Amino acid sequence: MENDLSKYRKSYEKDVLSEKTVPENPMELFQKWFYEVDNSGADDEANAMTISTLGLDGFPKNRVVLLKRYTYEGFIFYTNFESEKGKAIEENPNVCLSFFWHAAERQIIIKGKAEKIADNLSDGYFESRPRGSQLSTLVSNQSEVVSSREALDEQLKILESKFEGKEIPRPKYWGGLIVKPIEFEFWQGRPNRLHDRIRFQLQEDYSWKIERLSP
Ligand SMILES: Cc1cc2nc3c(=O)[nH]c(=O)nc-3n(C[C@H](O)[C@H](O)[C@H](O)COP(=O)(O)O)c2cc1C
Repeated sequence: MENDLSKYRKSYEKDVLSEKTVPENPMELFQKWFYEVDNSGADDEANAMTISTLGLDGFPKNRVVLLKRYTYEGFIFYTNFESEKGKAIEENPNVCLSFFWHAAERQIIIKGKAEKIADNLSDGYFESRPRGSQLSTLVSNQSEVVSSREALDEQLKILESKFEGKEIPRPKYWGGLIVKPIEFEFWQGRPNRLHDRIRFQLQEDYSWKIERLSP
């Protein structure tokens, strides 16, 4: 098979990004960009982000998860702590998040350290989830091999009747992780591939060093 994609060419012209006008705290720029993308309606899952971990096999692995909350402290998503990513993070909490918002011609890359959030916060979020999602959390040994689709559907039916009319407890192996950032790179596409890249690096005094990177 051979597919030549060299004619795929797009000129990026939507916006500019300058180190002279960015806020001192990158979380505020994240919030501004997120609102702009979300409100534009061009991306129906603006909160989808890639998280990469360094796996126990020595390979990096990316996968998409959904950002559910962010504060000055960091970025929270929910997952199975015993999944491949959960085990990788347990061993090495250094992770990388990235957002690609193609309609806005923007990318954000965030390096940080992941840690579990408090149990009561995970409980609160679990309780807010639709019942079907709660049950699926119980059915899924995320990242383990399963014999068939039918086996999953069968297990779901069993749990549906087991928990009929009852509250579904959050399993201890599932909950939130917060990624506390140490570095951000904001990328705004520009014409002729001369893109704007602004990096923020966390300093020992908790201020952020701001620099422009060559495209
Ligand atoms: C749009 C989208 C959203 C997803 N959201 C989550 C999520 O919030 N949490 C999660 O654990 N997996 C989520 N997944 C599934 C993950 O990409 C991945 O398949 C799963 O977490 C298992 O990854 P692992 O085996 O590397 O641990 C999502 C996938 C997609 C495509």
